[in-house]
Amino acid sequence: MTDLSILQEKILRLKEERGAIILSHNYQREEVQDIADFIGDSLELSRTASELKCDIIVFCGVNFMAESASILSPEKTVLLPELGANCPMADMITVSGPRNAMTNFPGYKYTGGYKFPVGFTLRDIKERYPGAPVVAYVNTTADVKAESDVCCTSANGVRVVESLASDKVICIPDRNLAAWIAKNTNKEIIAWDGFCHVHDRVTRDDVIVAKREYPDAVLVAHPECRLEVLDMADHVTSTSGMLRFAKSSSAASFIIGTEIGLLHRLRKENPSKNFYPLRKDMLCPSMKKTTLQSVLRALETMTNVVKVPEDIRIPAKKSLDRMLSV
Ligand code: 13P
Ligand code: SF4
Repeated sequence: MTDLSILQEKILRLKEERGAIILSHNYQREEVQDIADFIGDSLELSRTASELKCDIIVFCGVNFMAESASILSPEKTVLLPELGANCPMADMITVSGPRNAMTNFPGYKYTGGYKFPVGFTLRDIKERYPGAPVVAYVNTTADVKAESDVCCTSANGVRVVESLASDKVICIPDRNLAAWIAKNTNKEIIAWDGFCHVHDRVTRDDVIVAKREYPDAVLVAHPECRLEVLDMADHVTSTSGMLRFAKSSSAASFIIGTEIGLLHRLRKENPSKNFYPLRKDMLCPSMKKTTLQSVLRALETMTNVVKVPEDIRIPAKKSLDRMLSV
């Protein structure tokens, strides 16, 4: 037995004893995905977390996801194996304090300026566009969700925006998802200027290189990529949307424009098809923080509990519930 399989066995035993359920995002390490009860995209995991009949959820993902689980199921104990697993894009907008305007991600070349000064906040943009509802991508902190009107994920952004009565909508924090939504609706979209450094690093030139290398492959891209990339894609969808697309498509080869963790499931579920990363460095360090060791430690010690205070949880839940009902 390998060290990894010994750890996996220990986790599975302890999970049974504790009555815990392990949720994993599609970008998690392969060995972590392999011990999960449910693997999915942000929307599927939110839905699963709210429907599960269990006392303990171990959330293998980043902190906004564990927060969402706790918001939807406050009676459950939600454990985040690595408390430092944060989404840098989520931290690019705050309700009132200074935001994270980091551009020094390894391998990421920052292009395009910030539209708003570093001190600009969610409250500031609401004040600038009074009456425009705020659609918050789930990649936001709980207090930002609480201050928004409705949430969306990469799987339902267009539908959520279309469901609103207003012709003018504020979309936060991802400028690329906002541009994709704007392209697919008739509404006026006011976009925040955040980005995911994993997806925003991909350029038109990268697509040209990948298509030259794999001329017969179909290109699927995540809406967190730039519009110049999405415009060249055969299909634009969330991570689980990519899994469904790969399964149902008659194509034999695919170029995958999202975090490379998704390749594990794509290859496992489609052994006769070929999957190539659009760029090999599309790797999210935050998503890779969670290890088998940290999952085991969380279960053994029952530490790293994520709990959202009630005054934030209740309005944040309204935004998530509104999304789930669309
Ligand atoms: P989805 O899995 O919902 O497409 O989200 C991608 C993502 O970046 C989550 O952090
Ligand atoms: Fe955040 Fe991007 Fe990592 Fe997703 S892939 S957690 S959006 S930094």
